[in-house]
Amino acid sequence: MTSANRYLTSWEGFWGSLSGAPGEVFWDADPAHAAEQDLALFQDYTDPQLPLIDLGCGNGTQTSYLANHFARVIGTEIAPAAVEIARTKNAALNASYRVLDVLSPHDAGALHEEIGDANVYMRAVLHQLSPSDHATAIQSIERLLGARGVLYLVELSSKAEPFFARLIEQYGPPPGLARVFQHQITPGMLHENNLESLFPSDRFTLLRTGPSHIRTVHTLPTGEVVQVPAFYAILRRRQRQPR
Ligand SMILES: C[S@@+](CC[C@H](N)C(=O)[O-])C[C@H]1O[C@@H](n2cnc3c(N)ncnc32)[C@H](O)[C@@H]1O
Repeated sequence: MTSANRYLTSWEGFWGSLSGAPGEVFWDADPAHAAEQDLALFQDYTDPQLPLIDLGCGNGTQTSYLANHFARVIGTEIAPAAVEIARTKNAALNASYRVLDVLSPHDAGALHEEIGDANVYMRAVLHQLSPSDHATAIQSIERLLGARGVLYLVELSSKAEPFFARLIEQYGPPPGLARVFQHQITPGMLHENNLESLFPSDRFTLLRTGPSHIRTVHTLPTGEVVQVPAFYAILRRRQRQPR
């Protein structure tokens, strides 16, 4: 089985198994606590007339919020079951959803041919890939961005692993997380100090980075909502100087 098929099997299994009950999807935060805060960080760097691609959009919760702020938004996913949920639950006039494996630079290139340069939003996707697949995913992102697009990513940080260990030790595994593990989805870690090697400065310009969190739908017995330590980065492709 190719690694891409491994992701497809696991994620299609995950998205296909959901009943639609509230709180089933661990990271499915209200956009007021997710995309809205992200947007406040990256909006000023983007041209809102360019399309925005929500890469690995899941059920489209954040995508439909982002559609209020860009001329056109396209949510892309490896899992057809996620695309189906997004189309049903998070439709918007200027939003559409389609299957795209981020590990296919060829398909990313075809989408770029179709829509031109695009901004890319990516929440909690890159760290789900095995480190050996990061370079291919970034090749796809590069194609989607073209010369004018801006990438915003928010991914778990180096503090996430000890955070989860402590959380599970104190309270046991949150049910939403256990559901992810049932589908053999094992997050590969990606750390903020990998940014420079993943997005080398001869190909990318880092516009801004800093600490963040991925808000979840899981509430602890203390009443606190679990927010997993994360980091964000805003990047664009390096502009080549004319000779
Ligand atoms: C943790 S979820 C985040 C979903 C969404 N970004 C959000 O914040 O609600 C990671 C998503 O990445 C998708 N994904 C995993 N591997 C992928 C791949 N190779 N190409 C595209 N999407 C992928 C999964 O199906 C899943 O929906």
